[in-house]
Amino acid sequence: MIGKDIDLVVKLLKEGQLVGIPTETVYGLAGNALDENALTQIFKVKNRPTFDPLIVHTNSFEKVHDFVLDMPKKAHVLAKHFWGGALTLLLPKKNIIPDLVTSGSPLVAIRIPNHALTLEVLSRLDFPLAAPSANPFGYISPTTAQHVEAQLGDKIAYILDGGSCQLGLESTIVGFEQEQAIIYRKGGISIEAIEQVIGKVEVKAHSSSNPQAPGMLKSHYAPRIPLILGEIGKLIQEYAEQKIGILSFKKYFDGVPTNQQLILSEKGDFGEAAKNLFSAMRTLDQMDIEVILADLLPEQDLGRAINDRLRRAAAKS
Ligand code: TXA
Ligand code: MG
Repeated sequence: MIGKDIDLVVKLLKEGQLVGIPTETVYGLAGNALDENALTQIFKVKNRPTFDPLIVHTNSFEKVHDFVLDMPKKAHVLAKHFWGGALTLLLPKKNIIPDLVTSGSPLVAIRIPNHALTLEVLSRLDFPLAAPSANPFGYISPTTAQHVEAQLGDKIAYILDGGSCQLGLESTIVGFEQEQAIIYRKGGISIEAIEQVIGKVEVKAHSSSNPQAPGMLKSHYAPRIPLILGEIGKLIQEYAEQKIGILSFKKYFDGVPTNQQLILSEKGDFGEAAKNLFSAMRTLDQMDIEVILADLLPEQDLGRAINDRLRRAAAKS
């Protein structure tokens, strides 16, 4: 069921049940991060392997110190600057965080999100929430309560409706080696924005062999229908025999009905494109088409994270 009953959400979470929650990035499938039963349920409902760890969500800087042993200086600076927001930090965990949350890693992924309803829920709980994106493992992340309902509605108690997600891309994951900051997943906060605050960072978001953030395995974010990346104009010729859908950054193309073309941002705005991306992929995935043709954005700012999701979607094809 979808609704705005915060009292009910708090009650369900205290009972150890799972709830779909809005964040500014994507919707999460939330449960008590300190309760092994709730955690087991999260993996089950998502059909997610337990070697893929979960992000812990809390609502205040003070509480973070209950869960982590210490914070490198740059982590502290980033947290002060970007929380609540689309930044997840990998930090050494205290024993109170179950190994199931981190898949046995000594590091816990933690963030303070930025969504009024979810912050209200967190402020009324005496435990943090583990929340992966609220989609079945390997599918596109949900950016509305209706997306969650469509795929997990029969498996969870309640979905808290917080409207459509403001950012539309998952959080950026940052870890540390000594004092060097490393980006493990490109996301809603751009590398440029992070570098403005702490200087040059290293990006390791591409290693797919033994990823530190296994959610970044290539086949993630994938629609069911094959997605082909390239110059859409040329691809239209190449795939002329098939029923084509188009996922384009800025413009419509000739030769394909416009109702089978989804434009991320006609004015070429990265933020607008990010907000529309997953929803557009879902819409195309439900159309009567055989192939999705898509083009990449300029490799800068949020364009990098959007391109990352497009490449992963294409990798399944
Ligand atoms: O924006 C977000 O981060 C959303 C919202 C709901 O907060 N959550 C999200 O969770 O995207 P999920 O589970 O779909 O992706 C979490 C990523 C995965 O790639 C996972 O492998 C990585 O974070 N991760 C979680 N804990 C980790 C840890 N201890 N060490 C390394 N990677 C970790
Ligand atoms: Mg996910």
